[in-house]
Amino acid sequence: MQLFNKKILLGITGGIAAYKTPDVVRKLTAQGAQVRVVLTRGAAEFVSPLSLQAVSGNPVHTQLLDEQAEAGMGHIELAKWADILLIAPATANCMAKLAQGLADDLLTTIYLATDARVCLAPAMNQKMWKARATQENLHRLQLHGVDFIGPDAGEQACGDVGPGRMVEPEAIVSSLAAMSGDDKLAGKHLVITAGPTREPIDPVRYVSNHSSGKMGFAIAQAAIEQGARVTLIAGPVTIAPPANATTISVTTAQQMYEAVMRHIPQADIFVATAAVADYKVSDVAENKIKKSDEKLTLTFVKNPDILKEVAALPSPPFTVGFAAESQDVEAYARGKLRNKKLDMIAANDITREGLGFNSDENALHVIWHDGDEHLPPASKTDLAKTLIALVAKQYNNKMSK
Ligand code: PMT
Repeated sequence: MQLFNKKILLGITGGIAAYKTPDVVRKLTAQGAQVRVVLTRGAAEFVSPLSLQAVSGNPVHTQLLDEQAEAGMGHIELAKWADILLIAPATANCMAKLAQGLADDLLTTIYLATDARVCLAPAMNQKMWKARATQENLHRLQLHGVDFIGPDAGEQACGDVGPGRMVEPEAIVSSLAAMSGDDKLAGKHLVITAGPTREPIDPVRYVSNHSSGKMGFAIAQAAIEQGARVTLIAGPVTIAPPANATTISVTTAQQMYEAVMRHIPQADIFVATAAVADYKVSDVAENKIKKSDEKLTLTFVKNPDILKEVAALPSPPFTVGFAAESQDVEAYARGKLRNKKLDMIAANDITREGLGFNSDENALHVIWHDGDEHLPPASKTDLAKTLIALVAKQYNNKMSK
C-alpha cells in the first residue's frame, strides 16, 4: 500500500482518455490515497466534474481565478498540498506548455508552483507523439525530473495504430505505487541499451546480428517493477517495449551512442545489453552496389564503444556491461570488467543451445569486483528480475560507501 495516505493531485487534460479518469481516482482511493482533481477546460468536455467529485469525495477544481476555490483551496495551496501531481491524460498541448513553463490555467500554474513529484501519463495520436516537437518536450520534461508512465502502443480512438494510448488506469496506479514505495530502485533512473544495431552498406543492405532485444526489454521491465524510471534505447527489434519505459528507437551504433550520451547525465545506472556492431562500413555507397565484380571488398572502421565511453565519464553512473562470448567466457568477461572500468558484467555463453541471442531463455554469470553469482538457465523475464536485484544491491552498496 505504497500510496496509503499519499496526497495525489490528479490533473486531467482534454483527451478522449479523460473518460477513464474516474476509474483512476477509484483505484487510487482504493489504495488509501487522498485524491483531489484539477480539470482543464478541454477535459471538462470529456468527463464531468460531478462524477469526479463523487468518486474523489472532494470538490473538483477548474478555474485559476475561482472565488470559491480561493476561499478554500487556491492554486498555491493545491500545489503545496500535493505529494504527487499526476497528469492523466497529458495531451501534447499540456506537455508543450509544461515544457515551456507557460502558466495560463490552473493546472499549468500548479505545475510551476509545486514541489510534488510530477508524473505524466501521455495520450495523443501516434503521429503527434512521434512529432519532433513532442519528443523534444518529452526530453525537456525528463530533464526537469518529470516521470512518464507510458504511453502504450496499439489501436487508437482515431483508428491509427502506434504509440500514444494512455496507459490503463490499473497500470497507472501500480506504476505510481512502484515509484512511491521503498522498492529497491525507487526513483532511480536507468538507461538501458537493447537489441542489435544495423550498419548500412548501401541503400538496401546492412550488417547486423541476431539480437532480438528480449534480454534488454526484460531488464527494463524488471527495473520498472522495482520503481525505476527507464530510458530504453533500442536498435531495430520487432518486440513491443515495456509500457512504462521511455523508448528511443535507433538504427546504427553511432545513433545509439548519441542517444545514450544525451540521457546519461541524468542516469543513476547504465545497463548495456545491446549487441552493438563494433565496426561500420567506412564509405556507405550512395546507390545500390551492382554485382558486376567477382569480389566485393568493404572497408570497416570502428564504431564508438558506448559502454567504455560511459564508464570513462568524469562522474559515470553505476555501469553494467554484458559479454556475449563463445569461449573462455569468464576470463573474457573479467577482462572487460577490468579494462572498461565497469561496476558489473553479465556474461552469457552463446554456444549453449537455446540460450542467448534471440531465444526466450538465457543463463548469466554475473561478476562484480568482489563477488560473482551464476544465474542458471531461466526465462529472460525471471533472469532479469534476479539481475536487477543484484544490480540494486551492488548499486546501493556503492552509494553507501
Ligand atoms: O537481444 P537478445 O536476443 O535477448 O540477446 C541478448 C544478448 C545475447 C544480445 C545479450 O544478453 C548480450 O550478451 N549482449 C551483449 C552482446 C555483445 O555484443 O557483447 P560484446 O562482448 O560485443 O560487448 C560487450 C559490452 O559492450 C556489451 O555490454 C555491449 O552492449 C557493449 N558495447 C559493445 C560494443 C560497442 N561498440 N559499444 C558497446 O556499448
